[in-house]
Amino acid sequence: MFILLVAWTCLLSVKAYDNGKLGSTPPMGWSTWCTNDLCGMRDVCTEREVKKRADALVSQGMVQLGYNFIFLDDCWASTERDAEGRLQGDKDQFPKGMKELADYMHERGLHLALYTCIGTQTCRKERPGSYGHYDIDAQTFADWGVDLVKVDACHKPGNESTIDLYTQFSKALNATGHEMIFAMCEWGNENVWEWGGSISQMYRIAMDHLPFYRYGNKTASGAGYGQGVKEVIDWMADLHPSKYNRPSAWMDPDFLMTRFPLTMDMAASRTEFTFWTLWSSPLLVASDIDNLSEDKRAILMNKEVLEVHHDSLWVSGERLFRNSDQTQAWSRPLANGDVAVVLYNAVANEAVDIKVLFVDLGLDASKQYIVRDLWAGRDVATVTGGSYSSSVAKHDVAFLRIRAAP
Ligand code: GLA
Repeated sequence: MFILLVAWTCLLSVKAYDNGKLGSTPPMGWSTWCTNDLCGMRDVCTEREVKKRADALVSQGMVQLGYNFIFLDDCWASTERDAEGRLQGDKDQFPKGMKELADYMHERGLHLALYTCIGTQTCRKERPGSYGHYDIDAQTFADWGVDLVKVDACHKPGNESTIDLYTQFSKALNATGHEMIFAMCEWGNENVWEWGGSISQMYRIAMDHLPFYRYGNKTASGAGYGQGVKEVIDWMADLHPSKYNRPSAWMDPDFLMTRFPLTMDMAASRTEFTFWTLWSSPLLVASDIDNLSEDKRAILMNKEVLEVHHDSLWVSGERLFRNSDQTQAWSRPLANGDVAVVLYNAVANEAVDIKVLFVDLGLDASKQYIVRDLWAGRDVATVTGGSYSSSVAKHDVAFLRIRAAP
């Protein structure tokens, strides 16, 4: 009887943290990055503009590829709660309210994601945080039909434990009975990869990913103001994502900064997307999809690359080696026995040859393999010698898929 009781209690407590099946694949979509026009970036956090981006996801065929979230970050909410103490959308930005917006998304096969904070105010200040209101806010999100809630960590009262507060929020979401992905944003502090997956469906592993290839040298949790592409890659290598990343427990290296034309050239954007797909990370495009260049759009819509991202083994890629010249090789086993390989030229000022040995990929060096270049979209070699080498341009990658020859 006692054993039965313990088993039942365990079952209940597991259920308390399971906010639904929506998070069983990594969320993909578009984010407003609503931050009160931070750094002069054009803020499109209004009903009209957000719906325009939703229509664009549909008309450009991105929804069919899996990009089905419209994500409103900070600054969508009114500075005042309503008379019943509920959060409400800013009346000027969202005159028809948030439920109407969620309905609009659902009618088009999309999901709506909203942002709040574990503390007393949101990170950009002025707007109310959820502290002291977790139950009512979770219920409000559920009543609107929201599909994902991002919970930031700003303005947390100093006497409170972050883990306790996030656990309470997770339970509040779960208690509504409405499926919502719980996305935690506490910047990778407190070794979140060790506990984040038990109470949330995705969790940030570092500070904000900024729209640069390199941004300082800070990699660790909560370090600096944010990280460029290179620092995120080095940090993920240290974390060993294959140990933690799994369905409904995604490590989140933050939004994709694909668009920014001056600071994110083609190589930086290709490298960013390659690694986010190699890790099966959430793919949330924090740039104006209406104004993407065709080249940048082709990066986000490359079907063969997205196949690696969605591979049903859901095993994150890991770094095989980093040479003293900062050239690297990464690999990921795929469900059909193929292996995805990334050869990455992290800092050299010119193209360099990077070589990978098949024995290091778990392949039989005596057999024949076909190497397909996923960015080129063609087979580039039939190999019998047990290794493959490719010239890789500065900050760029070769993204390969290796299969046994018939
Ligand atoms: C924090 C988060 C960002 C973003 C902003 C919004 O900095 O890390 O992802 O949500 O707040 O204010």
